[in-house]
Amino acid sequence: MCGIVGYVGNKNAVNSIMSGLKSLEYRGYDSAGIAYYDKEFKIIKAEGKLNNLEKKINGLNSNIGIGHTRWATHGKPTVENAHPHKVGKFTIVHNGIIENYDSLRKLLVSDGYTFKSETDTEVVAALLDKFYSEKADILKVISEARKLLIGSYAFGILCDDYKDSLFALRKDSPLIVGIGENENFIASDVPAILKYTNKYILIDEGEIVEISNKVKIYDEYFNIKEKEILTFDGDLESAEKGGYEHFMLKEIHEEPNVFKNSTIPFLKFGLESLLSRDFSKYTSIDIVGCGSAYHAGLVGKSLIESYGMRVNVYVASEYRYQKLFTNKNSLVILISQSGETADTLACLRKVKEKGIDTLGIVNVVGSSIAREADSTIYIKAGPEISVATTKAYFAQVAILGLLALNIGYSREELSENQLEEILKKYSTFPEIIEQVINYEYSEISNSIYNYETCFFIGRLIDYSLCLEGCLKLKEISYINSIAYPAGELKHGTISLIEDDIPVFAVVTDKTIADKTISNIKEVKARGAKVILIITEDLDDDFDFTDYKIVIPNVNKILNPLLVTIPLQIISYEVAKLRKCDIDKPKNLAKSVTVE
Ligand code: F6R
Repeated sequence: MCGIVGYVGNKNAVNSIMSGLKSLEYRGYDSAGIAYYDKEFKIIKAEGKLNNLEKKINGLNSNIGIGHTRWATHGKPTVENAHPHKVGKFTIVHNGIIENYDSLRKLLVSDGYTFKSETDTEVVAALLDKFYSEKADILKVISEARKLLIGSYAFGILCDDYKDSLFALRKDSPLIVGIGENENFIASDVPAILKYTNKYILIDEGEIVEISNKVKIYDEYFNIKEKEILTFDGDLESAEKGGYEHFMLKEIHEEPNVFKNSTIPFLKFGLESLLSRDFSKYTSIDIVGCGSAYHAGLVGKSLIESYGMRVNVYVASEYRYQKLFTNKNSLVILISQSGETADTLACLRKVKEKGIDTLGIVNVVGSSIAREADSTIYIKAGPEISVATTKAYFAQVAILGLLALNIGYSREELSENQLEEILKKYSTFPEIIEQVINYEYSEISNSIYNYETCFFIGRLIDYSLCLEGCLKLKEISYINSIAYPAGELKHGTISLIEDDIPVFAVVTDKTIADKTISNIKEVKARGAKVILIITEDLDDDFDFTDYKIVIPNVNKILNPLLVTIPLQIISYEVAKLRKCDIDKPKNLAKSVTVE
């Protein structure tokens, strides 16, 4: 996610901004840039890591400036697309996504504006410039422009006519003002200012910030507001975690927003943008990935197959060496958070060589899989720091749900009415995610953390969800957990079920719920401690559960996401009780770029 730092004060802005940007590196980025004053506002940008930018800014001096690290959304991670962007009198940096930038861009082109980049940000710079050329009142101009913007944003704004002031505003993207001695800052997050000050103000939506040698926060009627000055007491590391004890927990709590970010691009223009892909030529799909990405693929298989399209899911390290049964009517989908996993990348290259169509589902913009696949859908989960994936898996499943709808509709297995009925739930779903995140899980976690074996059972899609829950628990708490298709237990594994052994059972698929419930009774009869995760429509007054987590029954596309949450949080809590190194489990790497 992008990072913003702005400075006005009596020291060198360029150095302070650079140091602030370094503290925001944990947010992830693929290019960076800075604007500073030297007789006029000038811009320097570089692709890649901050040291590329650092080499270009050596020796510069200015008392005002804005800097930015860009996590590409609109347009590739190039110098042209890096921020800041200058149009006319306005130089700006932006964190977020302007959803209606395309229509604004067309409007501005008809007014004679031309654009150097593919970004939504440059469009906003032009919009400010256009309004300012009509009425040179900066606060009113910012406020008028804001009224036209749909989406999320935090902006840092410089105007040629204000060489001692920096303006800022936000909606749905974070922004703070740092207050130092004879110097003031804007930033995306507290770590950026901690080297200079621990005093800060949280900016609310609707406010406009002006920092110079003073800090002024205006309300929507341009009156100056009194704001509380907060003091940050923690160290840099705790600031990066945004108050959470671990990145994993922070990333789980980001899931409501991740869901919005990953699905909005497909929903904002109505059905057309969701149904933009033509799947009619394909007769089968292979999905390939490793670890959690493979598990997301299995969930996707159930969803897509429910609309009549055959899907096979493969572990990439196997697929790359096995015989291919694909043909010109096959599509191969490669799922990868990092976009760099060696085995998944090798599969992509193998099928591309045979001329098979490929689609990447990737988080990291500009990564190898994203660049090499015929087309790519970005899941927009933002940088994931915890080695064990949570929010990226969540976003992969969300995207696969949308693909299933696209396929179902294009195969006429899903009517427009049915599709709209499902999509209706998307706008309120982030609140439901939040609600399930806030359930109380600690009693369950406390009751299982000191066991060395744990089972997960379910059937069909519920089994796929169990596989991911099982991996999560295993990889961060080192409990030997085993996921089994519930009906397969009695073919051997049930002999391992002993008194008190924790068994997680997932029941959300009503076509098979009765069968799974019979299997749960079988393990209960052998003394298992049963933790049932069930949708509310299937819940009953069962006498075989020790613990029960009842999740809302939203629809078959969205319910799998809700199952994921308790499994992630319980894994986290158990690992914490076992005093494990949660964000960096032993022997694991975030990006597996070797075979
Ligand atoms: C598990 C986990 C791994 C990754 C796998 C694939 O929590 O994070 O299993 O899912 O290594 O990585 P990507 O998605 O980067 O290809």
